[in-house]
Amino acid sequence: MTKEYITNELSRNERIKEASAYLRGTIKEGLREEITGGIIEDDAQLVKFHGMYLQDDRDLRAERGRKKMEKAFSFMIRVRVPGGVVTPAQWLNMDSIARIYGNGTMRLTTRQTFQLHGIIKSNLKATMREIDAALLTTIAACGDVNRNVLCNPNPYQSRAHAASLALARALSDHLLPRTPAYREIWLDGERIAGGEKEVVEPIYGKTYLPRKFKIVIAVPPSNDVDVYAHDLGFIAILDPKQGIVGYNVTVGGGMAMTYGEPQTYPRTADVLGYCQPDQAIAVAEAVVTVQRDWGDRVDRKHARLKYTIEDRGLDAFGAEVEQRSGVKLAPARPFSFTSTGDRYGWIKSDEIDQSGNMRAHLTLFIENGRLKDVPGGAQWLTGLRQIAEVHDGDFRLTANQNLIIANVPTDKREVIGALVAEHGLTTDASALRRNAMACVALPTCGLALAESERYLPDLISALEQRLAAHGLAEEDIVIRMTGCPNGCSRPYVAEIGLVGKGPGRYNLYLGAAFDGSRLSKLYAENLDHAAIIANLDPIFAAYQGERRDGERFGDYTIRAGFVAATGNGADFHSDTGARR
Ligand code: HEM
Ligand code: SF4
Repeated sequence: MTKEYITNELSRNERIKEASAYLRGTIKEGLREEITGGIIEDDAQLVKFHGMYLQDDRDLRAERGRKKMEKAFSFMIRVRVPGGVVTPAQWLNMDSIARIYGNGTMRLTTRQTFQLHGIIKSNLKATMREIDAALLTTIAACGDVNRNVLCNPNPYQSRAHAASLALARALSDHLLPRTPAYREIWLDGERIAGGEKEVVEPIYGKTYLPRKFKIVIAVPPSNDVDVYAHDLGFIAILDPKQGIVGYNVTVGGGMAMTYGEPQTYPRTADVLGYCQPDQAIAVAEAVVTVQRDWGDRVDRKHARLKYTIEDRGLDAFGAEVEQRSGVKLAPARPFSFTSTGDRYGWIKSDEIDQSGNMRAHLTLFIENGRLKDVPGGAQWLTGLRQIAEVHDGDFRLTANQNLIIANVPTDKREVIGALVAEHGLTTDASALRRNAMACVALPTCGLALAESERYLPDLISALEQRLAAHGLAEEDIVIRMTGCPNGCSRPYVAEIGLVGKGPGRYNLYLGAAFDGSRLSKLYAENLDHAAIIANLDPIFAAYQGERRDGERFGDYTIRAGFVAATGNGADFHSDTGARR
């Protein structure tokens, strides 16, 4: 049974998409409008599909408001990098674009891409052209479409990495929008005669998807991509001799919720079944088209796949996917995850390359993924630029906002190691810090209710002291912060989740699993800095005193009764569910 919508009930974004002539809108005209640094609201929705967000510097809002000035508008541009793998040449291009057109920093994101901030309207086209010249694109990096496809950047299992990267790229290509609008607007391509009538989006149609859609590929034992937090996931099933023999398919994960609206909630994905590698694309396309047709186009807050699956049931959803794809899914195969984190420092490849060289990989720890030259501190941009100039392997962005300098031949190890040391780049951090992630939040994100990237490092310094006092300094505990409940750094699958509630105030979530397979639950609300520490300190003490052998912090907080064991559903959300 497909839900029938009365046209005037559709959400505003549905009408914007419908009227946009396949994502054109009036973006092109708006770029020529010099009187404002912004663009009109409908186009601001459409440019997301082209990989950018209209933002303003929120640090400057009040002052500019007093002076009756327009907001300090600029754009955030997000690149699409399936599997997070780029060449040294592409790295150099991104570095140059960030310095010339951006705010002199680059951000490596929790979804294995680059984000550039602070690009003003008059520089947008030049930036987009340079990204294109670097053989990269930003199409569908944001918007109601399939976004960047993630895969484990795995330096340990070369063959599994090659196979999962190939699938990530194939999925990404297969699900790309086909509209020529991107080329027309940003790269001055000619509009094809006949325009929108000629264009067919074979997978998406005119109105694309009801909401964003996110796909990842996980390669056990690592769940670094957080497969349970995504709409569609493929968990590789490995055979020691044959490599990846197939995939367990997961559906219906998602993070975002809205405060005060308990019908919105984070949800971990369900395992639907198992498919062969050559069936993965057909399965993915079917999942996408079922969501296209069954997803809610009236209420955008109820439009993600997770709600479609809650409403229709996993069995009905799976049956429809099987029918559309022609693939009969087999029962899921056993697998096990051990963690969601990265392993830092050098490791040797498990394979010798074609020229008989033993390659190695260096994972760098980058706090919150922010690359910049810190005055008097680490010179991230300069250091990595110099490394890119000598490196002939690849760079791999991790889903933990870190970077792997991958496939370094033996004779380059020394020079790269020396550049890392010379520029103060870090290959490790304290146990808590290396398991931490923050979203961007202020000053650029228009949705932020509280600081995140600019605050988490200080909070961690304070928490490190408390952990050390309890003899827990070496304990791997996953901590994540966001500036609002949308969940960009996936805080609801972190053992300690802090979610912005208002300026300087956070809700504290506890009880998620170390391997990312279980949601946390609200423990305390509206905490300031001192209250966060005051709430966590006794739990750290109790954990040190009472934990069982090998027991993870998240598991302990449930066993000890600090939070209840969590299921999926609205009960997670309740603002009145806090213990404190
Ligand atoms: C309704 C839900 C969401 C909305 C409206 C939203 C919106 C945004 C916005 C506006 C930004 C730009 C912030 C900036 O760079 O200044 C952002 C960043 C980002 N979002 Fe989301 N987001 C949502 C949920 C999510 C979720 C669930 C994920 C991941 C599973 C995610 C992944 C990211 C990533 C990777 C970034 C880049 C910065 C980072 O690494 O934190 N977003 N999001
Ligand atoms: S979690 Fe909220 S505050 Fe943080 S980047 Fe995402 S939308 Fe912005």
